[in-house]
Amino acid sequence: MKASLYTVLILALGITSCAIYQKTSVVPPLEIPGAKHVKMRMCAPCHRERVESFESTTHARIAVKGMEKEGLGCGMCHGPGSLHMENEYEPNLIINPRKNPDICFRCHLDKKAEFRLQYHHPVLEGRVACADCHDSHGSESRSWTLTSFSDTSQVCFKCHPEQRGPFVFEHDAMREGCTICHKVHGSVNDKLLIARDSNLCLRCHFQTQLDSSRFLVGDSNHTTRMPRGSCFSAACHTTVHGSNFDDHLRY
Ligand code: HEC
Ligand code: HEC
Ligand code: HEC
Ligand code: HEC
Ligand code: HEC
Ligand code: HEC
Ligand code: HEC
Repeated sequence: MKASLYTVLILALGITSCAIYQKTSVVPPLEIPGAKHVKMRMCAPCHRERVESFESTTHARIAVKGMEKEGLGCGMCHGPGSLHMENEYEPNLIINPRKNPDICFRCHLDKKAEFRLQYHHPVLEGRVACADCHDSHGSESRSWTLTSFSDTSQVCFKCHPEQRGPFVFEHDAMREGCTICHKVHGSVNDKLLIARDSNLCLRCHFQTQLDSSRFLVGDSNHTTRMPRGSCFSAACHTTVHGSNFDDHLRY
């Protein structure tokens, strides 16, 4: 009798959590004095588009400990919404994380460390926001990230238009997206590169040793060139993103 009651309970819990929420966060919910968390459909009458697009995102599938049954929904980043719903124009009754990356760092603490590396996007300095690159409400989200345009590179062109081209001689690596060479949050390497100096380029362009002193990069003899510095240093392949003048990306 007792055993079967437990079985029913466990099954019921199992079904509700698996069916809706795939992940449980251990971070306690945000608080606003006097306010209670509400289900996200309560926000829909006034913010319908955001609720509808949010439903398909990763965050919509996350529950918070103690609230496994209903999930946190919008409250995960905006705090409990009950008082805001009654008094929409009072600014202190809802949290807006655009101004404060600490809301995101509560759950993504590892990202804070990335923004503290020597070379980084100035998010902690307040000059760039997570929301410049990630659309938390997901209307144009990719399956693997909340980057807000259909292609990762598009989001970069808002602020870095000079890398967009079009170039007469495009570097084919650009088709893989900026993240094939740049560690976007932060890096130990200058210019946010994923690897230092020529090591970056030699990931895709193979070096062939001809004998003890001579070697090729690709088909071309680089024996006297490589010792002069990195592949993209002065007088070499300075236009790594693409060139309008030279098919070897030299100027
Ligand atoms: C009765 C309508 C109504 C409901 C329900 C409502 N909101 Fe709002 N919300 C508004 C209005 C109107 C504004 C714009 C206020 C302004 O311009 O100062 C707003 C603004 C906001 C902002 C921006 C605040 C800022 O300071 O930038 C957020 C975030 C927000 N709402 C989240 C929510 C969430 C989450 C819910 C559900 C818990 C919710 N709202 C429910 C009407 C509503
Ligand atoms: C993962 C965190 C996160 C979640 C979850 C989230 N939001 Fe937001 N929300 C943000 C951020 C960041 C901003 C500020 C940047 C922006 O406008 O995208 C914001 C801004 C807003 C604004 C104000 C936009 C303005 O014009 O200033 C509204 C309204 C809003 N959210 C509603 C909602 C509603 C409704 C939900 C639930 C369906 C929700 N949010 C879920 C992070 C989140
Ligand atoms: C309550 C905890 C929580 C908060 C707050 C939160 N996130 Fe997340 N976020 C998560 C979890 C959990 C995942 C899923 C991670 C995984 O799949 O390993 C996630 C995933 C993501 C992803 C990857 C999306 C994907 O589709 O795989 C991005 C990007 C992201 N969050 C950005 C943000 C930003 C920006 C904010 C602040 C506006 C934020 N998050 C706030 C818990 C949170
Ligand atoms: C300059 C643009 C930019 C900014 C600003 C930015 N991100 Fe990202 N983020 C990206 C890109 C691009 C990716 C995909 C990285 C990849 O595929 O290598 C990503 C991936 C992620 C992921 C999922 C992948 C992973 O590494 O787990 C999370 C979570 C995330 N970002 C959180 C944040 C948070 C939180 C902030 C603000 C504190 C933030 N990001 C600010 C561009 C940005
Ligand atoms: C909201 C604007 C914004 C967006 C979007 C943005 N960046 Fe940046 N980026 C900056 C700022 C600001 C700096 C710091 C420049 C400085 O310190 O002078 C920077 C610096 C960089 C640097 C280092 C440049 C240097 O001279 O050291 C690289 C590389 C870079 N961004 C790549 C990217 C990539 C790749 C993306 C897309 C995933 C991206 N950025 C999206 C604003 C942006
Ligand atoms: C093949 C690798 C590679 C790819 C792909 C790539 N970059 Fe770069 N990027 C570099 C290298 C190498 C540098 C450093 C150049 C130097 O120091 O002269 C750099 C420098 C930069 C800078 C600093 C300004 C400058 O010209 O020195 C910005 C901004 C930048 N990249 C943005 C982007 C954006 C945006 C994308 C995607 C559209 C992108 N990069 C794709 C390799 C790459
Ligand atoms: C993600 C892979 C990748 C990375 C990293 C990469 N490339 Fe490329 N690169 C390519 C591909 C693919 C082509 C076109 C096929 C070819 O010619 O090998 C190309 C073509 C080139 C060309 C023109 C081809 C020629 O014969 O002159 C030059 C020059 C070049 N890359 C230089 C660099 C430099 C310098 C770096 C480091 C900053 C670099 N590449 C990093 C993939 C890459």
